[in-house]
Amino acid sequence: MLEKIKETADFIRSATAVTPEIGIVLGTGLGGLVKEIDISDVLPYKDIPNFPVSTVKGHEGQLIFGILGGKAVVAMQGRFHYYEGYSMQEITFPIRVLRSLGIRLLILSNAAGGVNPDFEIGDLMIIRDHINLMGDNPLIGRNDKELGPRFPDMSDVYDKRVIRQATKIARHHNINFQVGVYAAVSGPTFETPSEYKYLRIIGADAVGMSTVPEAIVSRHMLLPCFAVSVISDLGVEGKIVEITHDDVIDAASLVEPRMTLVIREMIASLDLLPVGAGPALASQNE
Ligand code: HPA
Repeated sequence: MLEKIKETADFIRSATAVTPEIGIVLGTGLGGLVKEIDISDVLPYKDIPNFPVSTVKGHEGQLIFGILGGKAVVAMQGRFHYYEGYSMQEITFPIRVLRSLGIRLLILSNAAGGVNPDFEIGDLMIIRDHINLMGDNPLIGRNDKELGPRFPDMSDVYDKRVIRQATKIARHHNINFQVGVYAAVSGPTFETPSEYKYLRIIGADAVGMSTVPEAIVSRHMLLPCFAVSVISDLGVEGKIVEITHDDVIDAASLVEPRMTLVIREMIASLDLLPVGAGPALASQNE
């Protein structure tokens, strides 16, 4: 794996002059953030050695390099999902490559179903913790100590200081937001009413089919991580209606401008430390 990571990172370094500080993964219907990036280079996944190719509508499949909020970023416009048939290692491979390119913060986004009865379609939810119900884990298999420990601690996956910064920015702009727990399932089926109920009972606020594999790998590499869901449908008794992937894309697209605003301003305000130097951020003026 290390060799593959190096090969891919070397290729990318030869294709762009941008050395990204922050990596951003754009979820279903959330690709609009790209419009805010002052773009230097675009690399289609199909041209990148060892990269998988995304097969899902709403996921363009390219790496975008440029400046956002005054910082060098790389955005994955389109991610890989377990339900596409890729292994956990394959869907998280790009995160390892981005880390190797030098990113010091990973920002993950997704569209999710709300199971908290206080949630509304169109809410933004900052993820404070997760429950992995995917039935798999990207760290299963031989562990390479160079990448991270065999048994990573998971008590603090989502960087608290970045969360505080994001909530401050959302409040400043009068953007409504929730903070909650994201449960990851394999999909591709949406949930039955009983499954939504179960997810609420075990402590989830939202459910989706992504993000957790990337967050686990990020934690494995001690790469600080921030994640946000846009609530595209509700799995709440009495509010459950038939949904399609297009409904998810449409709902996510409506929230996307607010998510983009929070992410852009958060990036502008962050003072990043090298990975491994402790917390993600240097001093914050809170
Ligand atoms: N369930 C699972 N994944 C999802 C949902 C949902 O209701 N909405 C968007 N992604």
